[in-house]
Amino acid sequence: MANVWSANANFKDGQLALCGIPAQQLAAEFGTPTFFLDEKDFRDRAAAWSRALNDSFGKDAGTVYYAGKAFICVEVARWVEQAGIGLDVCTGGELAVALAAKFPPSKIQVHGNNKSVAEITRAVEIGVATIVVDSLFEIERIAAAAKKAGKVQAVLLRLTPGIEAHTHESIATAHEDVKFGFSIASGAAWEAVLAVRKHSEIELRGFHGHIGSQILSMDAFEVAADRLIALLGQYRDEFGAELPELDLGGGYGISYLPTDEPLSPSVAIGALAVAVHAACKKYNLGVPKISIEPGRAIVGPAMFTLYEVGTTKNVVLESGATRNYVSVDGGMSDNIRTSLYGAEYIAVIANRTSTSESRSSRVVGKHCETGDIVIRNIDLPGDISPGDLLAVPATGAYGRSMASNYNHVARPPVVAVIDGKARVILRRESEADLLGLDV
Ligand code: LLP
Repeated sequence: MANVWSANANFKDGQLALCGIPAQQLAAEFGTPTFFLDEKDFRDRAAAWSRALNDSFGKDAGTVYYAGKAFICVEVARWVEQAGIGLDVCTGGELAVALAAKFPPSKIQVHGNNKSVAEITRAVEIGVATIVVDSLFEIERIAAAAKKAGKVQAVLLRLTPGIEAHTHESIATAHEDVKFGFSIASGAAWEAVLAVRKHSEIELRGFHGHIGSQILSMDAFEVAADRLIALLGQYRDEFGAELPELDLGGGYGISYLPTDEPLSPSVAIGALAVAVHAACKKYNLGVPKISIEPGRAIVGPAMFTLYEVGTTKNVVLESGATRNYVSVDGGMSDNIRTSLYGAEYIAVIANRTSTSESRSSRVVGKHCETGDIVIRNIDLPGDISPGDLLAVPATGAYGRSMASNYNHVARPPVVAVIDGKARVILRRESEADLLGLDV
């Protein structure tokens, strides 16, 4: 059974505690709903992916880019920098957070399938490490921006290796029928190679592939690596020079449920290294600089959401069975993953033990919508009552980062906890924030 909680969360006398601070104390000080972030756990996971890359490919032979889309704020960007790894941003907004944190542009990689001219111009001007090119139009836009800035911009080409990764349809990205990248199979990838080579303001450094998210086995990564490296071989055959970089994206899965068994960084990257080395041998190439972009696997397990139960309601189903609807003080505005992807979570009462018999339950939010479900099916103690605290683990990735203001609900804060101390790093939205855009 996998551990769904961060490394410094534990249970004492039925109470959840993070770094020794009981959930009840956290709720009293910071309110609910709140995302609690285990700072040491985050830092340790970032370091573990970096170490795995160094161990498997050689020291400084590659780069970990933390995928900021999973969750980013200024303080977390500082931790990423302190971990000595790079940052993947996919919008001007994420780039602005990185710059506010004084993140070195030379360690930022810029993604996006529809980067605006303004976003491209800014990225080129500040000197980001690489821009990952996603369309033929973008090649012209980058060339124009680089020319204007008097620079040569390093790029990777985002390619779709034609793989059905075993994950939900909305988060699988590398089969053919997607908006991302240039397809290898259709020849679009080669067309992009030729288009990039026409511009002296662009330096093509290599290829990029991201096959999807929440992937729990390495086989799809291995096939993707082989297909991308085959194209590196084709490039060398055609132009007589080897491209120096290959980015294999993110997508490493985590435990949402105790039955989800993720691969450790060392096992995952060890397997990737075997596949990369084999493919480079097969196509008679040197091993390029390898980059990876884990987001979820670094921040996902490091946070839990703490809610307060507001009401419970016993509903008799058509079958005659009953379901206990447990309403919490957040919902689809702080966790859209359940309604969007059918994501599954567990939850526990965090403030007390209960010996009450468990009942078939559904954890729902406070939004004006039936689909506002945090956990569709879960057995919870029958005596769960208003005022109880309910903690949902593994909400660090794509929770707060996908939060909305639906129904004018304020987005929750993120509180970092380390060494027995808790501090707000992203404050709770206020009514003034919610009204602040009305003209
Ligand atoms: N690199 C690229 C190019 C990506 O598109 C993504 C995620 C990542 C890296 C990071 O993937 P990760 O390691 O975090 O799985 N909202 C969805 C996930 C969307 C992922 C989008 N791209 C979810 O909540 O599951």
